[in-house]
Amino acid sequence: MKIFIDSGMLEEIREAASWGIVDGVTTNPSLVMKSGVPFRSLLEEIVKIVDGPISAEVVSTKADGMIQEAEGFAKIHRNIVIKIPLIVEGLKAIRTLAAKGIKTNCTLCFSAPQALLAAKAGATYISPFVGRLDDISTDGMQLIRDIRLIYDNYKIPTQILTASARSPMHFLDAAKIGSDVITAPFGVLKQLAHHPLTDLGLAKFLADWEKAKK
Ligand code: G3P
Repeated sequence: MKIFIDSGMLEEIREAASWGIVDGVTTNPSLVMKSGVPFRSLLEEIVKIVDGPISAEVVSTKADGMIQEAEGFAKIHRNIVIKIPLIVEGLKAIRTLAAKGIKTNCTLCFSAPQALLAAKAGATYISPFVGRLDDISTDGMQLIRDIRLIYDNYKIPTQILTASARSPMHFLDAAKIGSDVITAPFGVLKQLAHHPLTDLGLAKFLADWEKAKK
């Protein structure tokens, strides 16, 4: 499973990338707003840090506008992937961009039929939002299972990018189900790297090593 960091904070992206575990980056308008950095400059910095897919989201709600924004972002770097909302106009834009060879990440997916439509339109990635489904008492990870089943049934190449991941359990379940990618905030990546038994074990080894030297 590929691991993307879901962040617009350059220091978080730099730190996670330095661990050697980051395959790509996802951003969205809310994350860009939190970063306080103009979007284009932010993308220009991120592509220097991570050599992998970098999602940049359009804000137009009409296909023509989305395509125009997409073409502008695509010129920044070959790794830019255009994030397009899962609305009818978005499907049209995905189809046009696929024909032009521009990669897309279809976002705000909340149902398996939506994911099938995005794949039919030619999306490179589909981003089902598991945390936001959990928020409304619906099993977010069941959506990942359903999409995996449907895509496997028809050998669909669109990659499942588990998004809105909020916990290590989302990460574990996504890997067990066979999600192609998960994007997780820096805080979740930090949680994944730590285990109390690792810390206790290391402290004991180091203490014993000090005794052994005496
Ligand atoms: O990439 C989409 C993701 O960032 C949404 O996460 O936590 O705002 O639901 P969240």
